[in-house]
Amino acid sequence: MALRTIRVMGDEILTKKSKEITEMTPKIKQLIDDMFETLYNADGVGLAAVQVGILKRLIVIDLGEDEEPLVLINPKIVERSGEQKGNEGCLSVPGKTGVVTRPNYVKVVYLDENMQPQEKEGTELLARAICHEVDHLEGEIYVDKVEGDLMDVKQEED
Ligand code: NI
Repeated sequence: MALRTIRVMGDEILTKKSKEITEMTPKIKQLIDDMFETLYNADGVGLAAVQVGILKRLIVIDLGEDEEPLVLINPKIVERSGEQKGNEGCLSVPGKTGVVTRPNYVKVVYLDENMQPQEKEGTELLARAICHEVDHLEGEIYVDKVEGDLMDVKQEED
């Protein structure tokens, strides 16, 4: 496993649309492992492949606690309902946070790391993370959806 460099806002690749994955390869397996390592190292909850410079429709999410780590290949949100308003951040926009309204529930269909079709329902933080990461695959960053100002994350004082 290896850490990958996280691209930050201003890097043009983050505005590009990612391409579908048609087959699992050793290279993509390696990418998935590296994305988890990069995610944990950065203390994040989700990462899209484009954020490490690879324009493939691949997302990893790990909310910790009760949820299993998720690998979502070619994810498609097929149902959404309700509404939640809350703070969002992004590893590609370090030190910033802003309020975004998202559906409170989504159902996503996707392929797992064995290229098997799966579906997953998520509410609250999981729904928010799925929407945020799927946006990355379309070249969208949450800052364009922020209501009000993008704010600085307050540093915790020791
Ligand atoms: Ni993000």
